Order: sequence, then C-alpha cells, then structure tokens
Amino acid sequence: MKKLLIETYGCQMNVADSEVVVSILSNDYQVTDNLQDADLLLLNTCSIRDNAEQRIRHRLQELAVLKSKKPSLQIGLLGCMAERLKDQLLKEEAALDFIAGPDAYRSLPELIKNCANGETAYNVLLSQTETYDNIVPVRYATNGVSAFISIMRGCNNFCAYCVVPYTRGRERSRNPQTILKEAQLLVNQGYKEVTLLGQNVNSYSWEEDGTVITFARLIEEVALLSPSLRVRFATSHPKDISDELIQVIAKYPNVCKYIHLPVQAGSNAVLKRMNRVYTREYYLERIHTIQQLMPDCAISTDMIAGFCGETEEDHQQTLSLMKLVGYEYAYMFKYSVRDNTTAARNYADDVSDEIKSRRLEEIIALQQELSLQSNQRDIGKIFEVLVEGVSKRSENDLFGRNSQNKVIVFPRGNYKKGDYVDVKVLSCTAATLIGETVES
Ligand code: 5AD
Ligand code: SF4
Repeated sequence: MKKLLIETYGCQMNVADSEVVVSILSNDYQVTDNLQDADLLLLNTCSIRDNAEQRIRHRLQELAVLKSKKPSLQIGLLGCMAERLKDQLLKEEAALDFIAGPDAYRSLPELIKNCANGETAYNVLLSQTETYDNIVPVRYATNGVSAFISIMRGCNNFCAYCVVPYTRGRERSRNPQTILKEAQLLVNQGYKEVTLLGQNVNSYSWEEDGTVITFARLIEEVALLSPSLRVRFATSHPKDISDELIQVIAKYPNVCKYIHLPVQAGSNAVLKRMNRVYTREYYLERIHTIQQLMPDCAISTDMIAGFCGETEEDHQQTLSLMKLVGYEYAYMFKYSVRDNTTAARNYADDVSDEIKSRRLEEIIALQQELSLQSNQRDIGKIFEVLVEGVSKRSENDLFGRNSQNKVIVFPRGNYKKGDYVDVKVLSCTAATLIGETVES
C-alpha cells in the first residue's frame, strides 16, 4: 500500500478533518510519520491570522526543494488556505500538485488520480450540506483516551475580523444519530473522553419529524451513553450559551466543568465593530449565571489586541473584564487583517504594531497572574484526573486533566493511561497543578 503523511496546522477542527481525510484515502494509503517513506504529503492549513499562513508558505518553500530531489512525491494542500487562495496557490507554489477546500475531501481520490496523470487539479467548492456524517474518522495519531467528534461545520456569524465564514462556508449541523454512533464506537474501543467540535457548537440544531434537537439535548444524549465517558465541547459563542445548556452541563457529572467562551474584547464599542452581537454587560451576566450554577466551572477565552479603532480606554476595558471574570486560561492574539472580511473592507487597521504588541503583552501578563491565582486556589483540593500519559519532565510522573481542563502531574504509582485517579493538589505553577494520589 502507498504511504501518506499529513501535516495538520491550526485548530482542533483541522485535527478532526485530517482524521476524516485519512479515512477517505484509507483504501489506497496507509499513514506514515516518516516523510522519506511518503508517496503523498498533505498539508491541512489554517488562514486565521497572517502568521499562520506565512508559516505554511515557508514550509512550501522547503518542500519545493525536497520535491526537486524526489519528483515522485505528490503534495496537496487542504483546509482554509486552499479555500481562501484557490488556484492562485497552485501558480505561486512550485511544490503543490493539487488543492482541496474543506468541503471537497470526498473528491480527493479523484484529484490525486488526475494529477498523477499530469493534470493540475483543484476543488474548492463549498457545500451547504456536507458534514462527512457517514465517514468514520481514522484516529491515526490518537492517545487512545480522548477523541474529537465533529458535530457541525461552517459559521454564519461573520465576526468582522474573521475569515472562517468565507473559508468554511455556511453553518450546518450533523445528523445526531451519526454523532451518537461515533461516540458509542469510541466508548466500545475504550476511549474515555470525547470533545464535540464545531466553529460554534452551541448553535447546533437538528430538526426531524417536527422536533428540534438543540446542542443541550445532544450533549445530554452523549453524556448518557456512559457515565465514565467525559464530554467536552468547543467552541461556544456567548450569544448561544442558553440557560438550558448551562443547566445540562451542571446536571451531568461527566459533562466537564469547563467552558471556552471567547469574548474577544472588553469594550462595547469594539464588540460592536467586531459584530459580536453582545455587550460587555450581557457577557458578564452569562458568566455570573455559569458561576452561580457551577462554582467549580473553569472558563477560558480568546482575546484580540488592537482591533480597528481600539483606544487605550477600550484596552483597559478588556483588562478589567478579564479581572472580573477571572479566566482560568486564555488564547491571546494581535489583530491581523484578513482580506475581504468586513473589517478589512470597512475599517482602518489603525492601531500600530508597536501598540498592538504592548497591549498583547499586558493581556498575557494579566492572564498569567489570573491563571496562577486560580491554580493557587486549587491547592488542597482533590480532583478526579483522567490519565493521558507519562509526564514529559519525568518518567516517574503521570499527567492528566481534571474536569476543569487543568493539567495535573503526580507520581506514577501503579496507574496508567486511561485510568481515573483522585489527586490532591499540593503545589502549582501558572500552567500546571502538582499533586499526589489519594485513595478514593
Ligand atoms: N486576527 C487575530 N485574531 C483572530 N482570531 C480570529 N480572526 C482573527 C484575526 N483576524 C482569533 C479569535 C478567534 C480565534 C480562533 O482566533 O480570537 O476566537
Ligand atoms: Fe470566526 Fe466568529 Fe465564526 Fe468564531 S464565531 S469562527 S470568531 S466568525
């Protein structure tokens, strides 16, 4: 059988998509992690910020050199960059034989065949319906404990800065029966954790025979499959974080007490320009409700520093909101203009790079403090930890996560990957809890 290597960049959705791609190609290709052996190399790419694209451009330059030495190697580019730049990429990048956008993966066997016959090939058609729902992903790089399940694709929100609605098309939900089947299969194979994935999971909606299955209902059904299966989900939009959903998360012990709820900015003026469709006050009210119902729930966010028109006062509002929420974790970025988005068309990118960098550093420093404070509050507490493997730092330690998604390191004992272990926290850094096992 021929050999395939797939390099995945960007978000968890891409990780899940790569597993679908490997499944689609599994009749002809077997995965390898050695580029020397590969007959086919696929790059699953991301366009979210300019630096993500630049990284892939550099990789393509390296690959052009490699390909001149090994012309039999076929190279294809998948994902958001394929969709955003289309056939322009084939003209610019000598390394590339073909490209396929996020909704075109079923056509990969044909594209590969076409370009083996000397034709250059691309398919970047977006679909209103494709969810790959009958394809069982091949978990080719799994730890055997935790897996992603893609439950919806695309995005209808058109946040002003974001390229995703253009690269992944309109929002569509996957048939819940196929989601439950995939989850059950994972349970049968011994998996202990699933993460339900979508660009905006909490707007999941499936209508059949006059009844609507919301995300809250779906997560409940997945949680009911097995009490020892942890259920996580990402990413949620604040506009759709309903009381019904918060109640379901609170109700089931195996639905993890961790919500990634990106706010992006703390000032109403900036939120409005971003088209986030909520206010600071609304967001803080949702956080308050979550914290009332689930005092032990961890919350994380995404933050953008230096969006168009952001003043020093707007920036202070971001810092103050972060303190009010007390985030456990944050993904933090400098604003990067993306061609053709509403922001690129309507607003000037008028915050200098120097100021963006300084604001980002302040956001990162504050988050570092908040994460440390949150971890310090956990000292003395006992958490159920799902073991993911041996610690990178020491062979004698294992690591895993608690429900709140915090990494905990503890002495190995007789435990192994996939076990649930009660661990008491003894100390911490801003990134990790350190503990010892206790008898349950
Ligand atoms: N510039 C900077 N950050 C961005 N994000 C999305 N688009 C941009 C952009 N143009 C961030 C948002 C989003 C995360 C996935 O990436 O914070 O939630
Ligand atoms: Fe981008 Fe907004 Fe969709 Fe998230 S919800 S992917 S930020 S458009």
